[in-house]
Amino acid sequence: MTSDPVTVHVPLDDRAYDVRIGPGLIDRAGSEIAPLLRRPRVAIVTDETVAGLHLPRLQAALKAEGIASEALTLPAGEATKSWPHLTACVEWLLEQRVERRDIVVAFGGGVIGDLVGFAAAILRRGVRFVQIPTTLLAQVDSSVGGKTGINSPHGKNLIGAFHQPSLVLADIAVLDTLSPRDFLAGYGEVAKYGLLGDADFFEWLEANAPRLRDDLTLRQHAVAHSVAMKAGIVTRDETEQGERALLNLGHTFGHALESATGYSSRLLHGEGVAVGCALAFDLSARMGLCSQEAPSRVLEHLRRMGMPAAIRDIPGDLPDDAALIALMGQDKKVVDGRLRFVLARGIGEAFVSDEVQPDTLAAVLRDAR
Ligand code: GLY
Repeated sequence: MTSDPVTVHVPLDDRAYDVRIGPGLIDRAGSEIAPLLRRPRVAIVTDETVAGLHLPRLQAALKAEGIASEALTLPAGEATKSWPHLTACVEWLLEQRVERRDIVVAFGGGVIGDLVGFAAAILRRGVRFVQIPTTLLAQVDSSVGGKTGINSPHGKNLIGAFHQPSLVLADIAVLDTLSPRDFLAGYGEVAKYGLLGDADFFEWLEANAPRLRDDLTLRQHAVAHSVAMKAGIVTRDETEQGERALLNLGHTFGHALESATGYSSRLLHGEGVAVGCALAFDLSARMGLCSQEAPSRVLEHLRRMGMPAAIRDIPGDLPDDAALIALMGQDKKVVDGRLRFVLARGIGEAFVSDEVQPDTLAAVLRDAR
């Protein structure tokens, strides 16, 4: 069992920050955050689930370092990433008289991190914020890199801003309170890193990922390695002019499936990404870009982890293939009306392509049902 946090630095000039990864970081939040503060108070925004489980501990840790805190608790779930809750959050922060030099704390999963980060980006034209991600998905992906925003009825994450956090505290022990399904959903994003750019890491995951839930040392390595990969990509391409788009492996399919299932518990975001990764590898093999062995390995690994890996694993009815392809047309990667996919020449060798033929795409969807 490990206890010392690992630090991954994100060297973005005047927006540089550390991601601290280890067990027990919530209990150390006061001493971790104190150096950033100009006055000893913070505003915390969280959700009902996280508040019930962990908020008193966070507030006690802050208080132990003489930091006062007020907390706003929003409903849990993807529907919170919307204009009404953004308005409520921003108005509450103004009521709390949060000033430009203060710190807002986003305490929760990807929904809270994205919403609160966006609120911090627009409040007084930008206040600093600290991410304390409480899900595997948020720890390895959404809390790092500064993408913030909310959903629109037109699609996911269509409204937002780039706004980097000032610090990320990833307490890996907090993941013990996640349901097996939520934990695994986040694992879709971990596997994504190996699949997009690090075949050795994918091999390591094939050998070790089934024990991530029980072994904190393995978990810390998986989170830290994922964050280090993300930090590297974000540092080279902060605003997604090129390489950062690789982080969307599996997302064009995944977002369409999430939209088709109404962003409901039928398909969690990380599950959509997992199914999407399997489909992206299948598409790559059909286009002759990689061997058939690659999609088979992806599918086998996701199945071994107990994750949904094909469209047929999603419960309930789905719209037909034409409707799914239309939903993909809302993806942010669409350029001049052309769909762009992250494809792969093999495990760990992803690239962006706008060469996908509609009939190949339709065949992939049809066979995955
Ligand atoms: N989650 C994808 C990105 O941060 O670019």
